[in-house]
Amino acid sequence: MNFASDNTVGASAPVLQAIMQANAGAMAAYGNDEMSKRVRTRFSELFDREVSVFFATTGTAANALALSSAVPPYGLCVCHREAHIIDDECGAPEFFMHGAKLAGLPGVGAKLKAEDVASYLKSLPKAPKQMPPKALSISQVSECGLVYGLEELAALGQACRDHGLSFHMDGARFANALVALGCTPAEMTWKQGVDILSFGATKNGGLMAEAIVVFRKDLAEALDYRSKRAGQIISKGRLIAAQFEGYFAGDHWLANARHANRMAKLLSDGLLQLPGIRLAWPTEANEVFPIIPQALDRALKAAGILYSPWTVLSLPETERVGGNEVLIRLVASWATREEDVRKLLEIAHSGVSRQAAE
Ligand SMILES: Cc1ncc(COP(=O)(O)O)c(C=O)c1O
Repeated sequence: MNFASDNTVGASAPVLQAIMQANAGAMAAYGNDEMSKRVRTRFSELFDREVSVFFATTGTAANALALSSAVPPYGLCVCHREAHIIDDECGAPEFFMHGAKLAGLPGVGAKLKAEDVASYLKSLPKAPKQMPPKALSISQVSECGLVYGLEELAALGQACRDHGLSFHMDGARFANALVALGCTPAEMTWKQGVDILSFGATKNGGLMAEAIVVFRKDLAEALDYRSKRAGQIISKGRLIAAQFEGYFAGDHWLANARHANRMAKLLSDGLLQLPGIRLAWPTEANEVFPIIPQALDRALKAAGILYSPWTVLSLPETERVGGNEVLIRLVASWATREEDVRKLLEIAHSGVSRQAAE
């Protein structure tokens, strides 16, 4: 059973069917086909305003390209110190920003607070000694599975405006956050001041479907050149666009995300019933972060369950992982089966009971 991540499963049937349909016949290349145009229009409808859309094949490419359009080579991009862009992208954002730096700030649950961002910005020495801050990037869902609420986003958006920063959202799990908040895509983004978004679909049913959605015209100006230079203008672009057609049709994407979040909640609620298990952070989307006894960790691994250990860096001040405990991450996806969640809970239950008997 694999709870290691939401990209360990393949693509969902409607996405694959849409690719099969788009496969027939000849169409214009490099995203100039009718389907790519239709999907770009669909993004504008979804976000209740005209947006510019640039397709990408990975979240790393989407993030790096989005940030390169918001931050000049001498600039600073503020993010959480555990952000995917700083920890997991092998320097791609800095590479594409041509020398700009990422400044990682602490924050519980891998979330940033507007007041912490503002006081950090105020504390910076004056240019030209210090690189001027040009963008803020947050992950929605955060790297610890937390979802920024609309008020938190609005406060961050205001901090960006106060200090002249562009506001980037890494939405690798955009749909999971959206259904958790029960709001519209517009409410979760530009209405709170987000200027540019990495819209991820790969983790939620896509094959390789990511898009940079731009809400500010100036940030879109050179993105087609940047994308081409990065090898992200895909020659058979219709097969990327088709994935979004299948993804959006009949709100398939929202159903997938609701399922993943529901599976995570089931898992989380079940684990909390067991003695000796607590959550590092609440389960707000499709990831569960329990602190479990090491003996149970061994039992789960022996049963063949796959998941990852997680960093304790962003725990709340009141929380500690003891010497005989471990913090782990379990991820549910659109494809997670309820029977697998229940099986995991059974294994955990017998692991805990065995420990108690010893
Ligand atoms: C927060 C976050 N951003 C972006 C990505 C996308 O990365 P990739 O380049 O693997 O598609 C991921 C994937 O793990 C992620 O968790």
